[in-house]
Amino acid sequence: MTLIRVGRKPPAVTTTGVGDGDEVRIRQAVQADLLAVLRIERASFPQPWPFSAFERYLGEPGFLVAVEDSGRDDSDAESVVGYVVADLVPNHGRAFGHIKDIAVHPDRRGEGVGRTLLGRALAVLGTRGARSVKLEVRASNDPAISLYEEFGFEFLRTLPRYYDDGEDALILVVDLNDS
Ligand SMILES: CC(C)(COP(=O)(O)OP(=O)(O)OC[C@H]1O[C@@H](n2cnc3c(N)ncnc32)[C@H](O)[C@@H]1OP(=O)(O)O)[C@@H](O)C(=O)NCCC(=O)NCCS
Repeated sequence: MTLIRVGRKPPAVTTTGVGDGDEVRIRQAVQADLLAVLRIERASFPQPWPFSAFERYLGEPGFLVAVEDSGRDDSDAESVVGYVVADLVPNHGRAFGHIKDIAVHPDRRGEGVGRTLLGRALAVLGTRGARSVKLEVRASNDPAISLYEEFGFEFLRTLPRYYDDGEDALILVVDLNDS
């Protein structure tokens, strides 16, 4: 179901039913989302991105947030429950997509929000011409790896000691033409 929103909320909001029936909408991120995004980032990663890194991706079609009504009296108020940052990398006429960051609020994991965000990000990248999409993931990050495998991502190679704590990264790729 697609909703046309009016007022201060950003346009082109897609509503997606996930989890236990709460209404979570996916839309492009705006400046007002960034503090909530940063809080989730810091709760999710030992080496979180700084605020300025998210600011750089504002306006990118692949910077998406999952939001729900905050439950406050202010009917316009939304809470960010997750986000994904994806962009398109030009590559001699064969652009590929890159999932650069994805996280869901620790209290809202396991409800389908991550799956919904990743699906939307891949759709955005495909629409913009990406033939394949790649990402890096910690070798020990089983929840994320399972999520990526659901979308057809496959192991490409290992980046030894990619992270500051010495852990390896796995590069995973999916060919969008196959999906
Ligand atoms: C990875 C992450 C984004 C998944 O988000 P989520 O909303 O919890 O995931 P979903 O509820 O949409 O689950 C979708 C699929 O992901 C996999 N998955 C999610 N959580 C999992 C877990 N704890 N263990 C194993 N698989 C898991 C499963 O395949 C799941 O499908 P299923 O429910 O049918 O089994 C979330 O765990 C997170 O924010 N982690 C911290 C940040 C992070 O590691 N990001 C990835 C960086 S590369």
